[in-house]
Amino acid sequence: MDTNHPDRLAAADDVAERFHRWYYDNGVWETVRFLGVPCLKSVMDLWNYQEILFELKPSLIVEFGTRHGGSALYFSMIGQGINPLLRVLTVDIEDHLLDPQVSRVPAIEFMKCSSTDSAVAARITELRNSLPGPMFAILDSDHHQPHVLQEMLSLRSVMRSGDYLVVEDSNINGHPVLPGWGPGPFEAIAEYVRQFPDDYVRDEARECKFGFTFAPAGFLRRA
Ligand SMILES: C[S@@+](CC[C@H](N)C(=O)[O-])C[C@H]1O[C@@H](n2cnc3c(N)ncnc32)[C@H](O)[C@@H]1O
Repeated sequence: MDTNHPDRLAAADDVAERFHRWYYDNGVWETVRFLGVPCLKSVMDLWNYQEILFELKPSLIVEFGTRHGGSALYFSMIGQGINPLLRVLTVDIEDHLLDPQVSRVPAIEFMKCSSTDSAVAARITELRNSLPGPMFAILDSDHHQPHVLQEMLSLRSVMRSGDYLVVEDSNINGHPVLPGWGPGPFEAIAEYVRQFPDDYVRDEARECKFGFTFAPAGFLRRA
């Protein structure tokens, strides 16, 4: 059987897209838990992140958009399993949903402010000065294009060659879910790449690895 025949590849793409829509439109992602804490993601993306973290071996993980803290908890446990000195900085404008289990983890630092506040970039710079090694950053806060673009711009001076950035939820506004949502992360990435075409290399192999991702065009390695 020729698994690379164009008809079979097109059929596989169709299955992956329908699974993506089923997973998103039925809110499966909203029911995902890590050690009991809501973690609002695609489980395929979580496994990709685990593999990226093992390859990258970061000393710092920066997350914009904490919510309950399930993803920060996931990143801290995977990251510390790889590098016991790892720290996680997670930023949100709200903390009323933050799970106490997450607040008790010494490796996790929570900042209550907007991700685009200049204090955030300043704190990242401080942490980087005390934690030699690569950084993994993930954007999952306000998904409107201007905000995501501002987040990418604020990270520009703190990202170094070899660091890894994931811009989540670029699947909305019809890529392929929530058509008509309006310009979001996908459009922010396109605008950033238009302004700074040489900053990042798109990691398409990661996007494709598990059939679908919530972050199309959003797996980016700093050049
Ligand atoms: C999708 S949730 C984050 C989910 C979490 N990362 C996870 O995977 O479980 C988005 C969060 O972004 C926060 N948020 C919205 N605007 C923000 C901003 N300007 N700066 C930081 N966080 C913001 C919201 O309060 C919300 O908790």
